[in-house]
Amino acid sequence: MSLFPNYIKYDVSFVKGEGAVLWDEAGKTYLDFGSGIGVTNLGHHHPALTHALIQQIHQLWHVSNLFPISLQEEVASLLCRHSGLGAAFFCNSGAEANEAAIKLARKWAKEEKKVLEPEIITFEGSFHGRTLATLTATGQEKVKTGFGPLPAGFITVPFENIDAVKQATNPQTAAILLEMVKGEGGVYPASYSFVQELANWCEKNNILLIVDEVQTGIGRTGEWFSFQHYGIWPDVITLAKGLGNGFPIGAMLAKEALKPVFRPGTHGTTFGGNPLAMTVAKTVLTEIENNNLLHDVKEKGRYFLESLKEELSDSEAVIAIRGLGLMIGIQLSKPVAPIIKQLLKQGIVTLPAGENVLRLLPPLVVTYEQLNQAVHLIKEAVCEPTQLTIIQNGG
Ligand SMILES: Cc1ncc(COP(=O)(O)O)c(C=O)c1O
Repeated sequence: MSLFPNYIKYDVSFVKGEGAVLWDEAGKTYLDFGSGIGVTNLGHHHPALTHALIQQIHQLWHVSNLFPISLQEEVASLLCRHSGLGAAFFCNSGAEANEAAIKLARKWAKEEKKVLEPEIITFEGSFHGRTLATLTATGQEKVKTGFGPLPAGFITVPFENIDAVKQATNPQTAAILLEMVKGEGGVYPASYSFVQELANWCEKNNILLIVDEVQTGIGRTGEWFSFQHYGIWPDVITLAKGLGNGFPIGAMLAKEALKPVFRPGTHGTTFGGNPLAMTVAKTVLTEIENNNLLHDVKEKGRYFLESLKEELSDSEAVIAIRGLGLMIGIQLSKPVAPIIKQLLKQGIVTLPAGENVLRLLPPLVVTYEQLNQAVHLIKEAVCEPTQLTIIQNGG
């Protein structure tokens, strides 16, 4: 093996996908309730995406950002229309989108607030990426261990604690960075009141509110962006995952007033916004809109959450079931890793969120029948003590 051993991999290798179904090398089928960690929102082998990408492959792959790319303008205007924001920057991943937001906030604070050492407030249990700045922003020690010295200028406070935010605020505070639903950190939706208080605090103190929509964006929660459930209007949002349905892409959107902060030469990327990625993103956005998928996600999400609660709530193994749209977490009283392995054997791909939470991110195009199958399989794996014993003993 010539790869770094930084990923712990399952012993299943997929060779084909269609909608919410995956095939392994032996031809066995699996329900995909992980969507490649919240990425393939429109499912595998989506006809319109495949068609658009193939057409673009035959036309033009890459020219760099030294030249205008009209598709960038088209995708930017769609994203701005759906978010109410005024400017887009394209990159290649979620971490890069958050890096762009951090840089934008620092530069804005230096220019607008005359702050010398800008600070960004983030939350415990959050996840913002693996680059040095984004892992420092992340509120989980495990992603930081061994990578110091870490960049200065980040303060992490307890989630849902507005007093802690107020105490951490000082004249250097440039921005607050938040996930509306903590994804990697256990699928915790923020409460409406906390988000309102936070938005008011930012407004009152001239602090930028940055919402990390890398996992929650592009329809995952039943709105284009999760902030739209909360009746607030952030200054900046970051996107990746579902925007490319598997084609690498990231984006940062900001209010019109922040546009001049990134003047020529301040920030950039070689690949970001290339024609291949832009074609895919444009098609993703058009498909979601034309097929009224946001409405479907709300309905399916409600149905899935209720079905899971009905079937699993009585089990001693289940502490809580929560989520927003098709982003659902089942908090267990035991480790989730053996259950995920068991589910994989039973033919369904699921994800962990921390040690004890089973995270379910089916594609937005999942059918009701597939949701019912998943509820049945999850119930079997979570509530059956005998099967779990076998798995645990078998490693
Ligand atoms: C909320 C959030 N932000 C940022 C990231 C980092 O994205 P990427 O892995 O594309 O760098 C992730 C990845 O899981 C995420 O869930």
